[in-house]
Amino acid sequence: MEVVIVPDAAAGGELIAEAIATLMRRKPDALLGVATGSTPLPVYEALSAKVRACVVDASRARICQLDEYVGLPAGHPESYRSVVLREVVEPLGLDEGSFMGPDGTAEDVQAACEAYDKALSEAGGVDLQLLGIGTDGHIGFNEPCSSLASRTRIKTLTRQTREDNARFFDSPEEVPHHVITQGIGTILEARHLVLLATGEGKADAVAHAVEGPVAALVPASALQLHPHATVVVDEAAASKLK
Ligand code: F6R
Repeated sequence: MEVVIVPDAAAGGELIAEAIATLMRRKPDALLGVATGSTPLPVYEALSAKVRACVVDASRARICQLDEYVGLPAGHPESYRSVVLREVVEPLGLDEGSFMGPDGTAEDVQAACEAYDKALSEAGGVDLQLLGIGTDGHIGFNEPCSSLASRTRIKTLTRQTREDNARFFDSPEEVPHHVITQGIGTILEARHLVLLATGEGKADAVAHAVEGPVAALVPASALQLHPHATVVVDEAAASKLK
């Protein structure tokens, strides 16, 4: 695992956007796994700026979701499908056909999870998976105690994560209790994992993930098992590293 400390979130966004651009130059139809939440927004902004400036051609890129709320109606502005369309797919000038994600509205959620894992491998696997980290050390929505070998499945959000995500909804009660998330085992199959963490609120989680033991209690510590994992942290998120 390599750890890169950058001055601030914008610098982290620029660094990762350049890594994605380099991948797209080498492999124009790369499959890019994207996370939602606040942290990756500087990456998407920097990457879109590169596309607008014609320094990278993203027209053949493919995008896949990491996770999705269960039960939000299709088209809900906070469904991760809507968020990824708004923040990534449209700014990169891609169409919906280049984008895949788990179906959080499916009647048979288990079948939807299995179908998503299958679709990812049939697409050739994820080339670069961008990750954020929860204050409790989660990646995707693999909350503490998730199996390190887990596959895409339904999970229940912890109270902490629902509180953390309440800012995206009109009221805390609206935050769904359940999500579909790529499992840790699924995430580890991506060829390159890039985790971005910014702000002091992530410092404990980063320290446990990077310098603590590999443990299901800290799902992000699974990155230590991956042959090509990059953790990009700003000074504040790095503040508890030894
Ligand atoms: C969302 C996801 C989550 C977030 C994490 C951090 O797709 O995968 O693991 O990355 O909850 O969220 P922010 O960036 O909002 O602090």
